[in-house]
Amino acid sequence: MDINELLKKENLKRHEIIYLLGLSDEKEINLLFDRADEVRRIYCGDEVHLRGIINFSNYCEQDCLYCGLRKSNKNITRYRMSPDEVVEVAHKFINKGIFTIVLQSGEDSFYDTDKIAYIIYSIKQKADVAITLSLGERDFEEYKTWKIAGADRYLIKHETANPKLYAALHENQKLTERLEHIRFLKEIGYQVGSGNMIGLPNQTLEDIADDILLCKEYELDMAAFGPFIPAPGTPWQNKKPGDVLLTLKTMAVARILLKDVHIPATTALATLDENGRIKGLKVGANVIMPDFTPSPYRENYQIYANRKCVKDNPDDCRSCLQLQIESIGRKVSNSRGDSLKLFNQAN
Ligand code: 5AD
Repeated sequence: MDINELLKKENLKRHEIIYLLGLSDEKEINLLFDRADEVRRIYCGDEVHLRGIINFSNYCEQDCLYCGLRKSNKNITRYRMSPDEVVEVAHKFINKGIFTIVLQSGEDSFYDTDKIAYIIYSIKQKADVAITLSLGERDFEEYKTWKIAGADRYLIKHETANPKLYAALHENQKLTERLEHIRFLKEIGYQVGSGNMIGLPNQTLEDIADDILLCKEYELDMAAFGPFIPAPGTPWQNKKPGDVLLTLKTMAVARILLKDVHIPATTALATLDENGRIKGLKVGANVIMPDFTPSPYRENYQIYANRKCVKDNPDDCRSCLQLQIESIGRKVSNSRGDSLKLFNQAN
């Protein structure tokens, strides 16, 4: 296949995606990365959106094989922040120039419909920020209530588009159900983000191609591709971590195919590679999601070990990231960074 011809195509077929993911020649990989960077510039511009995450509870009712928060992991210290504490942290970072707050936790029904609605409403009352929820699979009625309370976006990873692999990773959950949640969330007006993990045991390039195609099929507003990192205290603690280069290739192909979608340079990528964030921003990413959870909670949100920046003071995050972003000629966005799809459809 002629790589230059392939990279110019408007639409990539499944076998072409697989071919690009399998590239091993350095020159060809660089052509892929350059094209992804160009598509990012055309569709998203030079702005990088910072989405501030508050991991407000690490309790989880699920038992996913890869995740350190799984309920059978007795080796982590569990915590819950009070709703008022969450609101206070959110306002502190909003005042520092953050325009999206991501409320994230394990699947923890302690935070019922009303508690979450209270947090959303209280944050929104004082500031025009976007609120993203990342709470796992919840009741469809709750999704509706939280939308009315002011939530804008929902983050729910599909993890893998291979139904057999999905079933092997999740004791009580099925891919079809996860996809129903994604469909419903889109239907009722959330901007929806999903994505996969790269380097899951037995995962193939075909599976990863299907992950990218799933993001297209569901017209997702954000697509996150992050490497798997073995988590202590889980059945997969001794597995190999995902490959950084394959993650970067996946992000690049996704950018070329999905065009105006938001793509984050994930914390997992930055954990495996010192320069992961910058490398990600150069191959299609336009979003970074720093962790604003305060101490002493932040060190206990151990979905995997040695999470990047976990020991740093979140008060310094914004200026530290700004320096890094500006060092490669990009700039920190000072808008909410809503779905580019909504914008493109309206115009
Ligand atoms: N490595 C990488 N990502 C992980 N996640 C959970 N555990 C791991 C891990 N070991 C990601 C998954 C999940 C989210 C909570 O974090 O994508 O959806």
